[in-house]
Amino acid sequence: MDKLIIDGARKLQGEIRISGAKNAALPLIAATLLAPGWHIIHNVPDLRDTRTILALLETFGAEWKREGSTLLVKTDSLNNFEASYDLVKTMRASILVLGPLLARMGKAKVSLPGGCAIGARPIDFHLQGLKNMGASLDLEDGYVTASAQNHLTGGTIYFDVPSVTGTENILMAAVLAKGESVIKNAAREPEVTNLVDMLISMGARIEGRETDRLTIHGVKSLNPAEITTIPDRIETGTYLIAVGTAGGEATLTHCNPSHLPALIVKLRAAGLIIKESENSIFVSRPAKVQSIDIKTHPYPGFPTDLQAQLMALMSLSTGLSVITETIFENRFMHVAELKRMGAEIKINGNSAIVKGVNQLNGAQVMATDLRASASLGGAGLAAQGVTEISRIYHLDRENEDMVGKLQALGARVSKEKE
Ligand code: UD1
Repeated sequence: MDKLIIDGARKLQGEIRISGAKNAALPLIAATLLAPGWHIIHNVPDLRDTRTILALLETFGAEWKREGSTLLVKTDSLNNFEASYDLVKTMRASILVLGPLLARMGKAKVSLPGGCAIGARPIDFHLQGLKNMGASLDLEDGYVTASAQNHLTGGTIYFDVPSVTGTENILMAAVLAKGESVIKNAAREPEVTNLVDMLISMGARIEGRETDRLTIHGVKSLNPAEITTIPDRIETGTYLIAVGTAGGEATLTHCNPSHLPALIVKLRAAGLIIKESENSIFVSRPAKVQSIDIKTHPYPGFPTDLQAQLMALMSLSTGLSVITETIFENRFMHVAELKRMGAEIKINGNSAIVKGVNQLNGAQVMATDLRASASLGGAGLAAQGVTEISRIYHLDRENEDMVGKLQALGARVSKEKE
């Protein structure tokens, strides 16, 4: 495994290009299972997770090729409907193949997912939704086997809380089901809308785009798609916050600031200067950061995927900040590591109380999950001295060319073998 070495206390300065969103690319790639022909997906980041889902599709008989950031995928001759533990265990989002495989093949067997260690993360909504569409489900030996003898039929599903991949899975199953399906309390994340747009371009009939109620009128067959992956709002947010944490100024290009409404309001309240245009965003930190409180919520609320990074920023603020996590129950694993760098943080239930300190100090820390890694990266950029982040394979899952982009911003970072 690799480790990331950061020689900190250096302001960031420059311009970088934001990549396509991992969390959008994964469902778009899964949706190619729904129709034969070559699908064309632009702006796909080359990350461990996108490679994993492509490897998974290959095991079903799919072919693919990459031309720069454009991905071409063909799923004409599917000859297997089983997603094995070996691949699924490395990436929870592998569950996204369940809906489309079942819709196309009438059968799917998918290992129950592992993935990030951030709590229980059940898939009961996915399974209930498929059941409501007439699928029979069997859970055995760590696998879920779903089958629909004739065809899936339209059904209604209500999510107790909006689930992103749950909404995506049910959407992909419903587009080829017989009759009408309704997803109530659906997730409204931009990644879901990206998938809705792809499915509509393939001939699917979906109403309620960008709302929490999606109505799907099933069609008999779909055509191959050409779609562009939206810019990664989490990568965008991570760099915005990193500039706030380390200081300096930067312009991020090829992004979509309108996908970060809550973060931008909060960063401005913390004293950062942010100038948005349609496809780029400028950030600078003119003075010491003010403390702010945040609470994570489904979109358009503050994203849980930026909570850890924001905590690193608040560690260097002028006062007390309360950070409340409402989406995942075990998403404070970065706290212990930030404390090793001198942060003052107390956890009280699902809130972290952060008392700003004047300085963080470089230390040896461990990346425990994807977002925790980014949080420690931000802290390391600001800290006096050298920070070594071990187990950074999580960072490779999320951030395309992170070392290169940070170096382009003037950071002294490198990757080494552990
Ligand atoms: C997706 C994102 C992840 C992000 C998360 C929340 C992808 C690949 N991953 O994950 O980066 O952190 O959204 O924005 O897009 N839940 C259930 N039962 C279910 C499904 C979910 O109880 O069947 C709960 C979860 O425990 C959690 C909440 O619903 O409390 C939201 O989770 P969900 O939106 O499903 O997260 P993911 O789609 O896995």
